[in-house]
Order: sequence, then structure tokens, then C-alpha cells
Amino acid sequence: MPKTPFYYYDLNLLDRTLKALKSAITDSSYHVHYAIKANAETRILKKIIDYGLGADCVSGNEIIKAIDSGFNPKDIVLAGVGKTDEELTLAIKNNIHSINCESIEELEVIDQVAKQNNSIAKIAFRLNPNVDAQTHRHITTGLSENKFGIPVADLGMALEEVSKYKNIMLTGVHFHIGSQILSLNPYAKLCYAVNDVLTFLDSKNIEIEHLNLGGGLGINYHEPDTNPIPNFEEYFKVFDKFLKPKPNQSVHFELGRSLVGQMGSLISKVLYVKVGKETKFAIIDAGMTDLIRPALYNSYHKIENISSDKEMESYKVVGPICESTDTFGEAVLPMTSRGDILQIRSAGAYGQVLSSNYNLRDRAESIYSDEWDLASILIGQKN
Ligand SMILES: Cc1ncc(COP(=O)(O)O)c(C=O)c1O
Repeated sequence: MPKTPFYYYDLNLLDRTLKALKSAITDSSYHVHYAIKANAETRILKKIIDYGLGADCVSGNEIIKAIDSGFNPKDIVLAGVGKTDEELTLAIKNNIHSINCESIEELEVIDQVAKQNNSIAKIAFRLNPNVDAQTHRHITTGLSENKFGIPVADLGMALEEVSKYKNIMLTGVHFHIGSQILSLNPYAKLCYAVNDVLTFLDSKNIEIEHLNLGGGLGINYHEPDTNPIPNFEEYFKVFDKFLKPKPNQSVHFELGRSLVGQMGSLISKVLYVKVGKETKFAIIDAGMTDLIRPALYNSYHKIENISSDKEMESYKVVGPICESTDTFGEAVLPMTSRGDILQIRSAGAYGQVLSSNYNLRDRAESIYSDEWDLASILIGQKN
């Protein structure tokens, strides 16, 4: 049995998810870049490369990781509101597909860095379409008061500004309205906003090669087994129906959570069951340092006791960290005792990547389904 807590990744589900994604893409102008920020484990990246996806990065180190893992630089995009000169240099030297420029102020710096490297930087404007993603306020990014992107109303100004720079080539427009989006309506609204931008660009005789619609497709945290693979067909259909790209324009997407969210679980051991006045606390050996989403966004993760089949009881599942927000929430579990194993579901995205060693704790390691299956983990035998 591996040392708990650990992340357990179901490679079979990842394969099935990537296959479903590929078969949902019927338009050859569509390209998906995996958002590395969701999960940057090397084995996962390599599998994603096998399915021909590009990479969406938000830091220089993510670019390095993407290239080292085998992504082709021409399939890498870089976003981020605060790119450093070093990160821009890396992007330009590797001639990545697109630097997604998030402010008019950034243009001067991109131009300078490109000039220093005797290059022309290929950029897209990340535009803020003011579309409500109808998701948690901490993961919405497309409203005008967010720090991300250039407001669509400032596009004229941005075009004037970019025309002054000799070492920048504007090749695309980029949008990303938020994450964990469960209704497809915001995407339809996004398409209308993008179509308006294309009409505006036309009126200025500006031709661009690509449109990037970002990511954000959500997953079912409450019922992870009901539809573990998101409905990619329905998702792409919205763009087929509402988006009106110009001939020869490629259309790019940056999916993260929907590809890797359901294939990961955090596996943890119960250290103590503490009986309070009204609450039974299951104190486990995983904490907010391993999975911060509940503490950070008040997110729900389904919790299962995979080693007990006794009668059901209510517990508050908490970690060992010296913070009162170190809780994974309420769960109804089979009667739980010290040594039981809990599986915290849907933790494949924004789980392990957001871990820290606060309290000087060890980081949870990764275990893959082809090394151990969960049943044999319970009886302590390796495959
Ligand atoms: C610019 C950008 N693209 C793509 C993503 C991926 O989003 P998701 O994992 O929700 O698909 C994010 C996530 O925050 C993002 O900021």
C-alpha cells in the first residue's frame, strides 16, 4: 500500500475521456490545447500528447515542462496578466503558436523583448467579452471588472497601438470566460461576442488567423460516476452552430478540468474519529495542503469510505493542518474508524498542482492505475 495521502489517477478514464474528445471534434479547423495548469504530471501530459493536443501555458515553467514532455512549441499558447521578460523571451525564442496579450501596456514590452531577440512575436489579443460564465465568482474571468484581458470596448485602441510595433504580428483573438461552466448558454453568448469582434476587425480590414475560445467546461462533482466523461459533443455543437469564423481561420480551445478532473482522486487514511457534542469529525491524513479547493473556493468534492460497508453516519471530514478552513466538508459515510481509507473524488484538476508544503508537510505522490488498482491498494497488494 503506497503511503497516504496520495493522488490516484485512473489512466483508463483519461484514455476514454481523450477518445471522446477526439471523436467529438468533427471540424478540422478546431484545435484543443490542454490547460497544463489543471494538472502537470508528466505521465498525464505524455498521454495527452499521444492524442495530438497542444498545450495552454500560463508561465515560463509551464512552457519548459510542456516542451520537455514532448509538446510541439508550435502548438503552445501562453496567457497570463503578468508575464515577465524572461517568460516572454522563452516564448519568443521557442516561436510558440501565440502569446495571448492581456493588456495594451504589455505590447511595448513584448515588442522590446522580440526586438532584443531579432524576432517577430506572434500575439493574440485576449479580449474580455463581459460574458457572465454563471460560475463561482472566484473562477469567473470574462466580466469587465476582472483583471484578465483587454475590454472589447478598447479593441480599437489596442489595434492602433499594435500597429506602431514592428516586432509584433497580431495573429489572433483570445477569450476565456471562466471555469467549471455547466450551462452551455454562456458559450453561445461568447460566440455572439466573438462574431461582433470579427465584424469589427473586418471593418478595419484586419485579418487574423485564429480564434481562441479558452476553456472552462465543467464536470459533475456531485455525481462523478454518472457521466464521468463530459459531453464534448454538445459543447462543440454550440460553436458549430453559433460561431461564424472567416474561411481559413482556425478555432482553438483550452480545456483543462473537463479532461483530467474526474480521473483523479485523493486517497487518505483516517487518523482519528473525534466525537464532538453534535459533530463527528473524521480527521484524515490529507489536508488543504494536498487539496485546497474546498478551503479556497468552498468547493464540493464527493467523499467515500472505500474500506467500510457499515451503516451510514454523518461526519465532518477535516485535515490535520493548523487552520480552521482545513476541511473537506460534510459527508455521509459508512461508520468510519481509525485506519479506514477515504477517497476524495474528482480531484484530478486543480488538486495536486495547487498543493503546498505548508506546515512543512510532504507532498502527496502520484499513483497510477496501471501500477495499483484501488481494490488491491485496500488489501495492500501491488498489481
Ligand atoms: C486562459 C485560460 N485558459 C484555459 C483555462 C482552463 O480552464 P478549465 O480547466 O476550466 O477548462 C484557464 C483556467 O483558469 C485559463 O485561465
